[in-house]
Amino acid sequence: APPVPRSPSRPQPQPVLGPPAPAALFLVVTVPPGGEETVRGLLPDLAGLQRSIGFASPEAALTCVAGVGSDAWDRLFGAPRPAALHPFEELRGPRHTAVSTPGDLLFHIRAGRPDLCFALAAEVLRRLRGAVVVVDEVQAFKYFDSRNLLGFVDGTENPVGQGAADAVLTGEEDAGFAGGSYAVVQKYLHDVDSWEALAVEAQEKVIGRTKLTNLELGVPGSHVEVNTVLDGDGREQRVVRAAMPFGRPGQGEFGTYFISYARDPHVPETMLRRMFLGLPGTGHDPILDFSRAVTGTLFFVPSADFLDEAAERGAAR
Ligand code: HEM
Repeated sequence: APPVPRSPSRPQPQPVLGPPAPAALFLVVTVPPGGEETVRGLLPDLAGLQRSIGFASPEAALTCVAGVGSDAWDRLFGAPRPAALHPFEELRGPRHTAVSTPGDLLFHIRAGRPDLCFALAAEVLRRLRGAVVVVDEVQAFKYFDSRNLLGFVDGTENPVGQGAADAVLTGEEDAGFAGGSYAVVQKYLHDVDSWEALAVEAQEKVIGRTKLTNLELGVPGSHVEVNTVLDGDGREQRVVRAAMPFGRPGQGEFGTYFISYARDPHVPETMLRRMFLGLPGTGHDPILDFSRAVTGTLFFVPSADFLDEAAERGAAR
């Protein structure tokens, strides 16, 4: 492939805009004081590890995206900070709460095969041994034709191509951190029994699309409508979602690992506010009556160029 031209104003991003993958592994860790140097030593090597483990299977397109939480940013890199990075804010609605949970680093690993995700996660954690505490580890999978465990096709309305890059990558507004992105993650557990007790028509009203054919229904108050957010000029505010199903049937665990990338974290936060706190007249997002958020964390995903220099950045502090 021809080399991707690099513009000095927009450094090379991490692979946040990877295509939907059949397998993913989400790893969230905290970095207790003293672990910073080990972390800074790993980050510049991530691209090489991805190449080493993925090279022989190019069709599987192994990718890894690393994000850094707000508190960890200061300890790892100090000033300057990404302009919009802050801790995930808990949202306590009348019925449902978007919890805020610890997380200093996120690794979002995707591939065509779960073994490659597994191998990369294992190597990352081997390098970080003794320096981090794993707070969440989720192996997720593509389910039928990109459905979630509620049975609906998930990801349809994601922007693509240049629209996706515009929605997701930081630019001039924070020039020192251009080519980055803000990732919101939330681990949801579904009450599959009560969901399946609903008639399909009732489920379709909750989501706002038909179940088999994935057609938009235009139901006020549905999940799709709650998350259709317009700016002052009537333009839709977009994020790129890469949510994936996971679970352990033997434990009664049926989940969606939600992740969205955005240029401005205010956009997914507005969606979450509408979902959990509700909109005048319609109340909360009905998907929450069947889905409980058990984690919630915001990360900044710096550019690939920033990661390459992470060790020096920290050492220069
Ligand atoms: C659309 C499922 C959480 C934002 C959808 C769709 C499904 C879905 C089935 C319709 C197809 C599509 O366009 O992808 C879920 C499930 C969730 C969840 C199972 C977890 C329980 C969230 C969260 C956000 C969000 C937390 C925002 C922070 C959106 C957006 C759309 C969407 C922006 C597209 C709306 C449009 O049509 O423009 N979701 N979602 N979702 N969801 Fe979610």
